[in-house]
Amino acid sequence: MYKIPFEFGNLLACFVPGNKRRARVRGWVNVILFRPFIMSFVRRTYGIKPKSVRFVRQKTLNRIVCVVDEKYYVKIFRNVTVKKLQDFKFLMDFIRTYISVEIPVIFVSKHIPMYVCEKIPGRNVREFDKNLILNNENKIVSQVKNVIQELQKIQISQIPNNERFVFSMQPERSVEKPCERPHQVLAHFDMNETNFLFDDDLNLLGVIDWDTISIAQNPDTDFNIFSKHWTRYKERVQKQDK
Ligand SMILES: Nc1ncnc2c1ncn2[C@@H]1O[C@H](COP(=O)(O)OP(=O)(O)O)[C@@H](O)[C@H]1O
Ligand SMILES: [Mg+2]
Repeated sequence: MYKIPFEFGNLLACFVPGNKRRARVRGWVNVILFRPFIMSFVRRTYGIKPKSVRFVRQKTLNRIVCVVDEKYYVKIFRNVTVKKLQDFKFLMDFIRTYISVEIPVIFVSKHIPMYVCEKIPGRNVREFDKNLILNNENKIVSQVKNVIQELQKIQISQIPNNERFVFSMQPERSVEKPCERPHQVLAHFDMNETNFLFDDDLNLLGVIDWDTISIAQNPDTDFNIFSKHWTRYKERVQKQDK
C-alpha cells in the first residue's frame, strides 16, 4: 500500500520535461501524499507537534528524503521492508559505540518503510569556502580515514546475528575493486563529501547516510569511494576558478 504515493509521483512525473524537474515533481508529490504519515510518525517518535515538512531530495525512484521542522530527517524507501530497516537500526545502534563522531540515531516506523533521525549539526564541505577546504585537505582526509579505521575495527563476527544484520539496502551501488588480500570489513559504501559534517574549524562532527552499509571484501573500498568523490569535488571547484 505504501507504494501508491511512489507510483503516483512516478506517473505524474512522466508528463514533466527534464530530469531534474521531473525528480522534483516526483519528490513533492510523494511528500504531499506521505505527509500525514510523516507528521504523525514524527509526533509519536519525539512527542512534539511538527509544523512544516520540506522535501530535500530524491536521487532515485526508490526513496525520498524530507526534513520536518528543519530538524528531523525522514527517509522513505520504496523497495525495502520494515523488517530490513529494523535490522539496519540494530546495526547502527551496535556500531555507534565504536565510532567517535556522531552517527544518526534512527527510529523506524512500524507500518511504512521509513525512518526518522535528528539533524546532526555541522556543514558538509560544499557549504564552506572552497579555499578553506583546499587548505585543510589533510585535516579533512585524515578524519575521514579515522572513521574508516574505527569501522574496520569492528569484527564482523562480533556483531550479534551478523548474517541477518549486515546487508545493504542499495546493493546496486556497491562497487568494489578486486584486491590481492581480501578480508571482510564493515564499509559505509557511500563516503562522498556530502555525508560528512564539520564544525566551523573543520572538525568532523558526524557521518550520515549509512543506508548502504555492508560488508566489503576489499578493505580499501570505503577509502577508494571517498577518494573518487574527493577528486571530483576538487576538479569541480578548481574549474570554477577558471
Ligand atoms: N541526520 C542528518 N543530519 C543532518 N543533515 C542530514 C541528516 N540526514 C540527511 N541530511 C541532509 O539531507 C541530505 C540527504 O540525506 P542523505 O541521508 O545523505 O540521503 P541521500 O541518500 O539522498 O544522499 C544530506 O546530504 C544532508 O544535507
Ligand atoms: Mg547522502
